[in-house]
Amino acid sequence: MIGRINHIAMVVPDLDLAVARWRDMLGADISAPNILEDHGARIVFVRSVNGHVELMEPYGEKSPISGFLQRNPDGGLHHICYEVNDIGLARQSLEAKGARILGDGLIKMGAHGNPVLFLHPKDFNGTLIELEQTSGGGT
Ligand code: CO
Repeated sequence: MIGRINHIAMVVPDLDLAVARWRDMLGADISAPNILEDHGARIVFVRSVNGHVELMEPYGEKSPISGFLQRNPDGGLHHICYEVNDIGLARQSLEAKGARILGDGLIKMGAHGNPVLFLHPKDFNGTLIELEQTSGGGT
């Protein structure tokens, strides 16, 4: 089902500070910041030739990533995003096999304007898995 890794996302306590560090110390190529209201996050993408790392800080009062930062004050790995060809089929198959989909179970728009869903970390060894529908995704 899953295809390429699309991105790996990290939560950071201070996005501007993180951007400065990743740019100045690692020489990273970083996108302009973008606010994702629906996801309660302000994000950048650290671009590289074979995928990218998403850095995100909480945005707004009810950000779903605020709790993560309380548990992990320095930030850390938040989720891994895999590409799939058909997110509706992926959801059906996962639900049939007993996987839990986060939130209301509905497919939402992700950071790239593609449909995404998130799988419960308890079903996947403590790490949140995001699936994103792309034309070059898995089966
Ligand atoms: Co993501």
